[in-house]
Amino acid sequence: MRKICIVTFGCQMNKLDSELAAEALQDAGHVVVQDEASADTVIFNTCSVRDHAEQRALSRLVQLRTRRESDSGFRLGLMGCFAEREGEALIERLPYLDFAVGTRQFMRLPEMLEQAERGRSGRFGEADDPGPGLDAAHARSRHHGIHGFVSVMRGCGNRCAYCIVPSVRGGEVSRPVADVVREVASLVDAGAREVTLLGQNIDAYGKGSVWNLARLLARIEEKIPESAGLRRIRFVTSHPRDIDRELVEAVATLPRACGHFHMPAQSGSDKMLKAMRRGYSRAEYDDKLAMIHEAAPTATIASDFIVGFPGETEEDFRATLDLVLAARFQNSYIFKYSPRPGTLAEREMTDDVPKAEKRRRNLALLEAQNAVNRERSESLVGTRRTILVEGESSRDPSRWTGRTAENLICVFPAPEDGAIKAGDLLDLAICSATPLTLFGRPV
Ligand code: SAH
Ligand code: SF4
Ligand code: F3S
Repeated sequence: MRKICIVTFGCQMNKLDSELAAEALQDAGHVVVQDEASADTVIFNTCSVRDHAEQRALSRLVQLRTRRESDSGFRLGLMGCFAEREGEALIERLPYLDFAVGTRQFMRLPEMLEQAERGRSGRFGEADDPGPGLDAAHARSRHHGIHGFVSVMRGCGNRCAYCIVPSVRGGEVSRPVADVVREVASLVDAGAREVTLLGQNIDAYGKGSVWNLARLLARIEEKIPESAGLRRIRFVTSHPRDIDRELVEAVATLPRACGHFHMPAQSGSDKMLKAMRRGYSRAEYDDKLAMIHEAAPTATIASDFIVGFPGETEEDFRATLDLVLAARFQNSYIFKYSPRPGTLAEREMTDDVPKAEKRRRNLALLEAQNAVNRERSESLVGTRRTILVEGESSRDPSRWTGRTAENLICVFPAPEDGAIKAGDLLDLAICSATPLTLFGRPV
């Protein structure tokens, strides 16, 4: 029996995988702890999406080297996307790394730990091989507090020129509707009040079958009554090419589906969108924005952008800036292009935008989005919002936080003992705002 700490990098999918892995380890008799210092085994669940993400995990790993070398009972392991990409090579290169397990094989962690006891093990999984037990794990109930996550799809069927995800997560696979509904129900039973459905391109759910995301949302609404405790249903990430009116109308009409779309544009320039192999033009993206505003007028939209993609000129960048200012996104996540080994962009394009220029574009875009955030936040002062209460603020115990269906963060004074609890819906009158936070009082 070991005391294991899993340290997670990367996206929601990795966070969910960490939970599933923790559960498998607990079932095998291990204890999962939150703090690294008290653990005798540390597993890094890694991300490969940008070089920086890999370097962060590596430097954390290197920090534990002395401990591994001086304490014969201590074990170090890797899981996740970087482990999938480079696991075998890292095992070769780093003698203090005990095991590495790929994105589809983490249910084998207990087995791998045993192997590591008998000598180092370099086994890891193929992205397309689901490995034993992954679906069984998905079907089990987990306790997450009020937030539950369900991956309704695995992998990604796209081939965006810059992106490592398809190669570390494998092809796109949709899970059966009945499994998803069962899993949502079990999370709600265990206390989840908001469930987020996860997929790299979730708008493609059910492609090739009679199912799609709109129908899946409707099925969840129908099968899991509000009286069971489920208050909200969210989903990420929407692809601009695949999002359609049926989905947006479903979100607008289903009472518990949240009016928030994360629909990454990546660029506002047609030339860049084409080079990135995104599968839509700027005009098509603008049409999707207009369609969402029309069919779900109160919904908010967030986006991702990559600056400094190969060949991006000042003019291309201006087109992106223009999109950020015109679309007035609820939020934008902005990344500097990072060449990923084996991707089309890395193989065939030159990373020709200088680092300093990437940084400048990144900052300029952030500034533009900040101005949008400030205006949007200020325009909400004086309105009323309904939030799902999340609990005490991590920064300030005299305040509590929650989110609106549109994913706006709200803060309010800590309630009297027992008056309000996490998972409750609460109406707030918004009295002031900063660019990313609304401050309110219960009404
Ligand atoms: N499946 C999602 C997001 C996947 S990765 C989607 O398609 O939208 C999350 C974000 O990381 C992407 O939206 C993109 O903006 C960014 N990203 C992915 N690869 C990158 C790279 N090589 N360099 C910089 N940013 C990258
Ligand atoms: Fe990557 Fe594109 Fe797939 Fe998103 S849709 S995970 S950016 S390949
Ligand atoms: Fe997620 Fe990073 Fe893997 S963004 S899918 S953990 S490469």
